[in-house]
Amino acid sequence: MNISLIKENLGTDWTDTISCIQTALISDIALLNKTNQSILKNGGKQLRPLLSILVAKALQKGPINLKVKHYAAASEMLHNATLLHDDVADESDCRRGVPTVRSVLGAGPSVLVGDFWLSKAVEMILKGDTFDSRVMKLFSQTLSDLASGEMLQLEKSDSCDTTEEDYFKIIYCKTASLFTAAAVSAAIAVAAEDREIEAIREYATCLGYAFQIKDDILDYAGDQKLGKPIGVDLSEKKITLPLLGALAAAPEQEKFIREKLASFDFNAEAKQEIINFVLEKKGLEYAERKLAEYAKRAVDALSCLPESSERKALEEIALFNTIRVF
Ligand code: IPE
Ligand code: IPE
Ligand code: MG
Ligand code: MG
Repeated sequence: MNISLIKENLGTDWTDTISCIQTALISDIALLNKTNQSILKNGGKQLRPLLSILVAKALQKGPINLKVKHYAAASEMLHNATLLHDDVADESDCRRGVPTVRSVLGAGPSVLVGDFWLSKAVEMILKGDTFDSRVMKLFSQTLSDLASGEMLQLEKSDSCDTTEEDYFKIIYCKTASLFTAAAVSAAIAVAAEDREIEAIREYATCLGYAFQIKDDILDYAGDQKLGKPIGVDLSEKKITLPLLGALAAAPEQEKFIREKLASFDFNAEAKQEIINFVLEKKGLEYAERKLAEYAKRAVDALSCLPESSERKALEEIALFNTIRVF
């Protein structure tokens, strides 16, 4: 599966969406404009707007309307806003293979540029003459989910007592919620029936879980293609699914490992010991199994939609995620 080819096949539906994003981010403040342009140049995978456009087309309600493109553009802008904020929360220096705004301009500017992208995303959602309160509620719920998810993650990185239930709550809030908003807003924009909206919600939520599980696996097992450093989750004391899987396989060591991570003198040597524990107790295999489960649930959810090349592309994205290396 080739994401670029899927985008190419979408023709002007795709290029119009990208133009919406570019136009919205033009600013007469030189520093802001230059920063926005450099973020756009290293644009990432753009999966969220891809979901919006594919969902609208898979529902086969004729040519997609401008609303869909606006919601697709807004989803990608919100995503970038959260990354600008996330790189401050995580003190990250590198993303998409280039230095982060945080590392070049500092934490304050990264938050401010993130705020700019966020407000432009809201303007994009409200563009046009029709206002849909369901869509507005969907995106505002996602915004509070994103902030809550990051705060819960910070709280848990202090106490080091993350359970699997906490983990799934965190990844729903920080990742699956926006996947869901991107897909469901597009379904609403093409006047999908309730049962179709529910199928799309299930697909996007499961894909969002699978996507973050994969991100967390790559943090243990990725390489330079990822464009961001690996091993940072443990350094930040984030307990993710590979470690939870290992702890479940070795309950007698759970107290010891959690205390090691929580300890004030947690250092590189202790980190390596925990990585070895995860590998030995097959934590990565545990996370891979959950990833496969969510990917399957995502694909199964699409079965009530009519067959189409767009439905096939949505299935392929779920499979692509399970094998991606970036
Ligand atoms: C990174 O998302 C943050 C997560 C939710 C894991 P992506 O991997 O979609 O980031 P880009 O936009 O492609 O760089
Ligand atoms: C996902 O969390 C980021 C957001 C959804 C805001 P991570 O902190 O795991 O993402 P990366 O690894 O920095 O891309
Ligand atoms: Mg991060
Ligand atoms: Mg990560």
